[in-house]
Amino acid sequence: MSGKQKHNANPMWGGRFESGPDALMREINASIHVDYALYGEDIAGSIAHARMLEASRIITQQEAADIVRGLEQIRGEIDAGQFTVSEDLEDIHMHIEARLKEIIGDAAGRLHTARSRNDQVATDLRLYVRRACDETDRLLQALQAALLKQAGAHTHTIMPGFTHLQSAQPVTFGHHLLAYAEMFWRDRDRFHETRRRANECPLGAAALAGTSFPIDRHMSAKALGFDHPMRNSLDAVASRDFAVDFLAASTTTSLHLSRLAEEMILWSTPQFSFVRLPEGFTSGSSIMPQKRNPDAAELVRGKSGRILGNLVSLCMVLKGLPLAYNKDLQEDKEPVFDSHYQLELCLRAMTGMADGMQADKERMEQAAGWGHATATDLADWLVRECNLPFRDAHHVTGRIVKLADELGVTLEHLHIGELQRIDGRITPEVLSCLSVAQSVKSRTSYGGTSPENVRNAIMEAKERYGIV
Ligand code: ARG
Repeated sequence: MSGKQKHNANPMWGGRFESGPDALMREINASIHVDYALYGEDIAGSIAHARMLEASRIITQQEAADIVRGLEQIRGEIDAGQFTVSEDLEDIHMHIEARLKEIIGDAAGRLHTARSRNDQVATDLRLYVRRACDETDRLLQALQAALLKQAGAHTHTIMPGFTHLQSAQPVTFGHHLLAYAEMFWRDRDRFHETRRRANECPLGAAALAGTSFPIDRHMSAKALGFDHPMRNSLDAVASRDFAVDFLAASTTTSLHLSRLAEEMILWSTPQFSFVRLPEGFTSGSSIMPQKRNPDAAELVRGKSGRILGNLVSLCMVLKGLPLAYNKDLQEDKEPVFDSHYQLELCLRAMTGMADGMQADKERMEQAAGWGHATATDLADWLVRECNLPFRDAHHVTGRIVKLADELGVTLEHLHIGELQRIDGRITPEVLSCLSVAQSVKSRTSYGGTSPENVRNAIMEAKERYGIV
């Protein structure tokens, strides 16, 4: 596009301009392709503002009625996809105002009394973030429900628990899944907190200093469901920490999702074969007929990079920005919209995978015994039954593990005589604590992995998560 091309002065603020913006200026300045998504919020905000102007006798009843009717017509047009946009009109606010003028005539110009696009856009984005928090909460809850369902089916399914991705101690699959449900519980809390802090109203702060019109900011705040008007007009138009909160909460959730995705990828390899992911979330290979690739899980894992990127992006926009409004702030929306949309996709895909995955119980239980996973149980037994200090018990157990390795058997397949040759105090009762089933059954401490604990934890979690 040529940088020389000129256009007519902007009808919204062109009073002191002789010519219109350079073509490149139009292009860099326009945000309509992004902030179009705010039309619902923008119209709701304008209706609340018009009603408040009417109640404060700043505009007449007739003007308010015309404005509201016109705005509702515009909402219908946009809903129906019958609205044309042009970069000439920069953003969604100017598009709606221009269209309002076409519909109701000059009264449209009165809507912008005691208001600026600065408080208008801040209000719109707060409304958007509020809604996004509620939607994300519902999706997180649905994912928790899928995890609880699987956990309920697998209270007794035994799998290897890992540290350093090395066999550590056996755990139940239900317990493992509940760990994620708890992460998503804290994520929901982060979105609640974000919503609570975002829920105050900038409207009426005007450009930055407030207004000389006798407006009622409490009325418009209340009409839009905000807790109260923002207390400082400069803060109202300049602050975007509510958007940072939203992006940070989204990032934490996507990190949790990426960990679960990674485990699903690992578990579904032929080498692990712990679970089969639902076919609908996998794909084949055009060259290797045997393959079933966990694409959706890989994308959930991969998208966490972009969701974190959005957080960093907005933080960098805000860094060092002087008060109050600066056009840099127009760059706030794309990261928020993108993270919201991408996270929603990830949550829905993960819910589908969690709901439909099939665990191979035999395979998991067999793998749970590999790597002498009950060695800690043996050491604990020596402490409990033979009164050894834990450090000595650890040493004796280490020698037993070494022997098992030399003989090429797992701990529970060692002969009692072989154990007694290493430490004479060992009695045949020890054998009962060496199976993986006995190991998980014994982990009854609060928050531990025993099947009974898991059953109780599921009941408690259902109630706390609000799942019926
Ligand atoms: N499109 C603008 C944004 O998103 C609206 C506010 C414009 N304000 C201004 N003073 N130019 O930030």
